[in-house]
Amino acid sequence: MQRTIRQIIKGMPATDGAGVELVRMIGQPALSMLDPFLLLDAFRSDDPDDYIAGFPPHPHRGFETVTYLLNGRMRHQDNTGREGVIEPGGIQWMTAGRGIIHSEMPEQEDGLLEGFQLWVNLPADHKMDQPGYQEYSAEQIPLETREGASVRVITGTTSHGTSGPVVQPLTEPLYLDVSLAPGKTFSENLDDEHNAFIYGIDGETLMDHTPESATIGKDQLAILTRGDEIRVTAGANGSRFLLISGKPLREAVVRGGPFVMNSQQQLRQAVADYQSGNF
Ligand code: CO
Repeated sequence: MQRTIRQIIKGMPATDGAGVELVRMIGQPALSMLDPFLLLDAFRSDDPDDYIAGFPPHPHRGFETVTYLLNGRMRHQDNTGREGVIEPGGIQWMTAGRGIIHSEMPEQEDGLLEGFQLWVNLPADHKMDQPGYQEYSAEQIPLETREGASVRVITGTTSHGTSGPVVQPLTEPLYLDVSLAPGKTFSENLDDEHNAFIYGIDGETLMDHTPESATIGKDQLAILTRGDEIRVTAGANGSRFLLISGKPLREAVVRGGPFVMNSQQQLRQAVADYQSGNF
């Protein structure tokens, strides 16, 4: 069955870290979560005042943080001594697991910084796993070329057989960055059981098989209905969008800032472990 648009979400301007201006798409009143996705922030600014303060050291426990950069460079550093720079087109899929303390700071003093941070939940029996990273540069992410379309495959496998380098069997995510020429159509198979959304990066993306409110504009997020297939067509100026889906965990979600657990008791334990230097 074809998926259609269930709801269009406009982002909520927010400030996070030490004062980074961003737009919160998931994790805000209009869309608290889309299981297993807990949060999606979009940032795009060429004004250093919006981003220069960055995200100084902060903890995470119980889920994964996924940073995908389109423009600009971000330096990350954590309490295990790991350090590196995410470059344009690069992905960092960090499994915080039982706990990590890291910083994410812009590696630039001016120019455009643009990208996304997505939080993906972990199931109860994997929240206390050892932290880990899956990190790939633009060159390491396969680019699938179709008629009028190019698809960067970060994770998951497309119907044309391209697999992304990131692997996460717990939530089976699909993360595609799709560019479509004007009027061209893109279709893909999705697991019927998975939650899915499209985020419009540029241009207009028209959802086929939807009677009304069928256009996903720039900076809009469309929650999709259930179905095993998706078909969209680019508007007159072409379009670029993220197509993201994942397996819902259907477990209790108890949030406390940078910790996402299954119970209040686990949340208190996370705070206690962090404060006593047990991360
Ligand atoms: Co973080």
